[in-house]
Amino acid sequence: MQAFQLVVLLSVFVRCCLCNGTLSLFGDYHREHLPVQLSLNESQEDGNLLLPFNTTRVSGSPEALGIQQFILDHFTTGLQNNWTVEQDNFQENGYNFTNLVFTLDTARSDANKNGTKYILFAAHYDTLVNPAGFIGAVDSAASCAILMYLAQFLDTLAYEDRELLQQTILGGEYGVKIVFFDGEEAIEEWTATDSIYGSRHLAAQWLEDGTMEQIELFVLLDLLGGATTKQVPRWKIKSYYKEAHRHYQQLSKIEDAYLADPATPFSKKELFPSDVLYMMMGRVLIEDDHVPFYNASVPILHLIPFPFPETWHTIGDTFDTLDEAEIQRWAVLLSEFAVDTMAGPQ
Ligand SMILES: *[C@@H]1O[C@H](CO)[C@@H](O)[C@H](O)[C@H]1NC(C)=O
Ligand SMILES: *[C@@H]1O[C@H](CO)[C@@H](O)[C@H](O)[C@H]1NC(C)=O
Ligand SMILES: *[C@@H]1O[C@H](CO)[C@@H](O)[C@H](O)[C@H]1NC(C)=O
Ligand SMILES: *[C@@H]1O[C@H](CO)[C@@H](O)[C@H](O)[C@H]1NC(C)=O
Ligand SMILES: *[C@@H]1O[C@H](CO)[C@@H](O)[C@H](O)[C@H]1NC(C)=O
Ligand SMILES: *[C@@H]1O[C@H](CO)[C@@H](O)[C@H](O)[C@H]1NC(C)=O
Ligand SMILES: *[C@@H]1O[C@H](CO)[C@@H](O)[C@H](O)[C@H]1NC(C)=O
Ligand SMILES: [Zn+2]
Repeated sequence: MQAFQLVVLLSVFVRCCLCNGTLSLFGDYHREHLPVQLSLNESQEDGNLLLPFNTTRVSGSPEALGIQQFILDHFTTGLQNNWTVEQDNFQENGYNFTNLVFTLDTARSDANKNGTKYILFAAHYDTLVNPAGFIGAVDSAASCAILMYLAQFLDTLAYEDRELLQQTILGGEYGVKIVFFDGEEAIEEWTATDSIYGSRHLAAQWLEDGTMEQIELFVLLDLLGGATTKQVPRWKIKSYYKEAHRHYQQLSKIEDAYLADPATPFSKKELFPSDVLYMMMGRVLIEDDHVPFYNASVPILHLIPFPFPETWHTIGDTFDTLDEAEIQRWAVLLSEFAVDTMAGPQ
């Protein structure tokens, strides 16, 4: 297993916490960084990637511009490698929108001779205009913070020892793109033209400039990180698209290994690979930022619980309803998943 090899190579830096040979999570790295970077403790401000999102983020507003700057600073000055930074600015419906696109080229130079291919991870950072004061903690502050953590994790792996890593993700099949979409939410009411402003704009651009053909897989995070309740005893993230079902299965295996670790605070799965009902329907049942990419035949792994959290699109979607452990769970699973997928088929 690729990730296992990586752990052996970097045994000083990370050590697996699941040493029974099947999977390795980068235990020491996460133990060191998660409590600080994905913390809900208000006294823990330094290096915190989550708390800055505890604000409204209406497209084009001063708060949204502040969050854009926070994200940009993370990638340009916080990280060690040279991420390519692109800002996709445009106006529509009287609003200013900005997608933020970050690329790390880690693929082997001879991989994919027709041009580098990428695994794309994305979430949206904007929030609803109404109700006024809507924070969007699960929608999608937590997902954005998880992506920032993932970026830092991959950046650290790629930086620590480029030579050793030639055999692993740096010498793998795929690079990575991380996208923060603006304008996912409708301004008035969800229609084809009043929603997913950012992803529609970026997809149109990528169809034109050929980038779309370079996207091997699109992993979309949404509504993650909420606390479960009596009504929702645990989250269920379905496999929605058969084109990405093998990736769903792969993530589920990582989840199994994670749950088997005595140190994890959870025992229940959220992924159910045998539950193929949605996938078999073969169409879009939950509209989100993936739709324009789905229409362009990109395989989609949509990580969204269904049913949605009870606080969805209510003023109650606040940081009080987030679950730190749940957020950290996704950060760990996606870190491992990214390394595995970027390495390419084994
Ligand atoms: C989020 O912001 C609200 C309003 O400013 C504040 O009351 C709350 O304590 C903050 N939550 C966290 C976890 O920082
Ligand atoms: C929050 O962080 C502060 C400062 O690091 C620490 O002293 C405190 O114990 C933490 N609170 C909780 C509930 O973990
Ligand atoms: C980042 O880019 C600068 C300028 O192009 C270069 O000097 C530096 O070596 C690069 N750093 C890494 C880690 O690739
Ligand atoms: C959009 O941005 C432009 C240039 O940055 C600015 O002049 C304009 O006032 C903004 N429009 C809105 C509606 O915020
Ligand atoms: C490269 O592109 C050509 C022409 O589109 C195609 O036939 C070939 O399979 C591609 N090779 C790879 C490795 O993707
Ligand atoms: C790894 O550990 C898990 C949980 O303890 C166990 O279910 C699984 O069978 C073990 N795998 C191997 C190969 O030992
Ligand atoms: C995607 O395709 C469907 C079906 O052809 C179409 O109705 C929809 O408008 C398209 N959406 C986007 C955002 O491309
Ligand atoms: Zn929403």
